[in-house]
Amino acid sequence: MIKPVGSDVLQPLFVYDTDEHHELLHEAEAMPSVIVSSQAAGNAVMMGGGYFTPLKGFMTVGDAMGCAENMKMSDGSFFPVPVLCLLEDVDDIRGAKRIALRDPNVEGNPILAVMDVNTIEEINDTQMQVMTERVYGTLDMEHPGVNTFNSQGRFAVSGPIKVLSFSYFQNDFPDTFRTAVEIRNEIQERGWKTIVSFQTRNPMHRAHEELCKMAMDSVDADGVVVHMLLGKLKPGDIPAPVRDAAIRKMAELYFPPNTVMITGYGFDMLYAGPREAVLHAYFRQNMGSTHFIIGRDHAGVGDYYGAFDAQTIFKSEVPENALEIAIFEADHTAYSKKLNRVVMMRDAPDHTKEDFVLLSGTKVREMLGQGIAPPPEFSRPEVAEILMNYYQSLGK
Ligand code: ADX
Repeated sequence: MIKPVGSDVLQPLFVYDTDEHHELLHEAEAMPSVIVSSQAAGNAVMMGGGYFTPLKGFMTVGDAMGCAENMKMSDGSFFPVPVLCLLEDVDDIRGAKRIALRDPNVEGNPILAVMDVNTIEEINDTQMQVMTERVYGTLDMEHPGVNTFNSQGRFAVSGPIKVLSFSYFQNDFPDTFRTAVEIRNEIQERGWKTIVSFQTRNPMHRAHEELCKMAMDSVDADGVVVHMLLGKLKPGDIPAPVRDAAIRKMAELYFPPNTVMITGYGFDMLYAGPREAVLHAYFRQNMGSTHFIIGRDHAGVGDYYGAFDAQTIFKSEVPENALEIAIFEADHTAYSKKLNRVVMMRDAPDHTKEDFVLLSGTKVREMLGQGIAPPPEFSRPEVAEILMNYYQSLGK
């Protein structure tokens, strides 16, 4: 099986031993504590599940700057984005050696993790700008990721963590939320050797479905792991339970049995385009996939990134041999009216734009909201129905 990044074994930071878990939770109740940002909570959940192996906890400002500037921490190890615990106020934890990190997304702010504090540093404007610019490619506060990153506070608390909870993800998405440990185990149980994984924050339309099938065919894969983001999105994006239902329906009806694993991970969307694509590939390797699909405007938002920047970054910026997972580079994919099937545009060089069924996201949302199903060339009718019900419920 493919090895995790920079490690022979996965290193989940969740405390799996029941006695140790119980004891630590008890101790943590008496520790100085802070409610962390949603982004930091997502980082903790990812580290808990082994997705960010071999990270041991939250980074220092020096390491975060190194990751932002050239994807390297001060010890030379590779990580594509800063993993920071940013706080507005550190009065309650100053001088403390061990602190509890509390969950901002669950009522009562239960304990999420315990941290052995290494440093508490204040990040200056220049550092904040360098990190923002390098990771998001812009300083524009209209960019949802830039806005979130810059609205969490300026104190970075770093140190190794032990994770005690997977936040709301396990309760809210019991059938879908999976740790990297669980996905690796399931891959092994199924005996899959060649595994394509698919990132998504959307319901899967025909293009998404066919991309998975094309990637599977091209590498002769045993199966695909659809791995959806379950954390926070920007307003207007479709909530996870609706996406989950639509994706399950599509997989059930349109994929051969036992070729799809429907899974999800607990992390807020960064909208960092190419950088997020590298992070995505990183944690797909950790969960055991051999191949990862990156298509058009992967993890993008607005017009901040070039359509295929999330593919070229693997050649231009990712250090050589940092990742073992192979990238399946997908071209713009759409239904061809001439060929009567979904194709990648590079495979239909004689086509013009008019030969494809192309609908903008805005147009599709409009149609669904009015109870009009997009054409079956764009969206499977059963998927369209779930989405129409959702959009129409919004208007009520
Ligand atoms: S993302 O933010 O999670 O990347 P989305 O769920 O829409 O958004 O896309 C999932 C994956 O499918 C990404 O790799 C994206 O590039 C790819 N993709 C989506 N639609 C298309 C398309 N029409 N053509 C090519 N690739 C696509």
